[in-house]
Amino acid sequence: MSQERHPIEAEIHPLLAQRWSPRAFSGESLSTATLRQLFEAARWAPSSMNEQPWRFIVARRDERDAFERIFNCLSESNRRWAGSAGALVVAVAARFSTRSGRENGSARYDLGQAVAHLTVQAMAAGLYVHQMGGFSADAAREALAIPEGFDPVVAIAIGRLGDPSTLAETDREREASTRSRRALAETVFAGSWGQSAPFTDSAG
Ligand SMILES: Cc1cc2nc3c(=O)[nH]c(=O)nc-3n(C[C@H](O)[C@H](O)[C@H](O)COP(=O)(O)O)c2cc1C
Repeated sequence: MSQERHPIEAEIHPLLAQRWSPRAFSGESLSTATLRQLFEAARWAPSSMNEQPWRFIVARRDERDAFERIFNCLSESNRRWAGSAGALVVAVAARFSTRSGRENGSARYDLGQAVAHLTVQAMAAGLYVHQMGGFSADAAREALAIPEGFDPVVAIAIGRLGDPSTLAETDREREASTRSRRALAETVFAGSWGQSAPFTDSAG
């Protein structure tokens, strides 16, 4: 991946710098050993009160029925490309605290953090992750037998990079476009809101 596609303001770890969300996957199914490693990374994420509110439903590409059950919950635009992933996942948050029984306000935050762990572990294994909010939570609840009290939050495609020329034209263009981020100076403040931090100067 070229530097032009990843304009950075400081050197960061290659696993983070090289991460992006591709659409073209190779179609190669992930192994059970690989999946075990990815979910082990997710399992060791921090969470509020160590509630570990995350659950995952996974289907390898070679598990045709299970893979299709998740695939069919995706939005049309995501179905255009996600079928070539090596595995599909639905990430689920437990809505209630196991201690108090009350709503766990950190559940989705914690789930996101577990997915971030999984994502970096995937990069270390030469795999890429593409998260998708574009799916039907109702369809997933039904098709995957997700019980009440657990909310499907995001679908995830994981796999090896594939050939972008296999994508539909709109997706192919997006695949090649420059990635962008709000500047560091507009993202981090020194001491109080709006105060620029010296280290966010583009001069460095
Ligand atoms: C919660 C969440 C939902 C997303 N939903 C979709 C989606 O439905 N379809 C899609 O193509 N990308 C989706 N994305 C990917 C984002 O568009 C992508 O992460 C963002 O544009 C930054 O690009 P990058 O991941 O390549 O750095 C989602 C990402 C996250 C974290």
